[in-house]
Amino acid sequence: MRKQVIAGNWKMYKTLSEAKQFASELKAKQLDTTNVEAVICAPALFLESLVNETKGSFISIGAQNMHEEKEGAFTGEVSGQQLQDLGVSYVVIGHSERRQYFNETDESVNKKAKAAFENNLTPIICVGESLEQRESNETESIVSAQTTAALEGLSEEQVKNTIIAYEPIWAIGTGKTATADDANDVCRSIRETILDGFGEEVASAVRIQYGGSVKPENIEELLSKEDIDGALVGGASLQVDSFVKLLEAGA
Ligand code: G3P
Repeated sequence: MRKQVIAGNWKMYKTLSEAKQFASELKAKQLDTTNVEAVICAPALFLESLVNETKGSFISIGAQNMHEEKEGAFTGEVSGQQLQDLGVSYVVIGHSERRQYFNETDESVNKKAKAAFENNLTPIICVGESLEQRESNETESIVSAQTTAALEGLSEEQVKNTIIAYEPIWAIGTGKTATADDANDVCRSIRETILDGFGEEVASAVRIQYGGSVKPENIEELLSKEDIDGALVGGASLQVDSFVKLLEAGA
């Protein structure tokens, strides 16, 4: 009953012309998207063109980050209000690369999640453990603490409409994927954390993606697991053909 959501996170890849070409090729594909949402999270520079290129199609557009304030003297930043005004509908928040390289914290993730809802954006909130944390059996406690902090103060309705992306840091861009069972165990523990904080109805509605070296060869098994409701995909979302295969697996 939860609709799968397959989101491509392009990170800092592609030029504008490549992005437009991708969107025009993708939207021409005949895909059954009754049971899957297709989202492209692109560099901020391309968002307006991609929104225009994909209007009326099955593709939604997301940003990869946003500032928590509506406006202000924050050189180089982009606000939720500005994203909404462009017609963007999703925003990735707290990706591990932003936590690692841009000092994002659980607190800033929470502020951004609130700001996303104020601007009608669906947040895709990333959580995940490092290799050291996994090796010292801290995965579930780390991921649970990140989830609790990210959702603090959101309403039940907002949490239902949040997407959580479980991305073990050691699996990102490394070719190493968590096994489908391990990924599902952590996704289930995230759902239990939400159950404790917000109750059964919310926990069973919230969608939890897996991310980390997802590709056409492994997506079916991941999506077959009960608590995995889609994928957040880096490398394999950059070519139309492989992104289409990921969407077909979710359909
Ligand atoms: O947000 C998606 C990402 O971090 C995973 O990247 O390249 O391992 O699919 P990749």
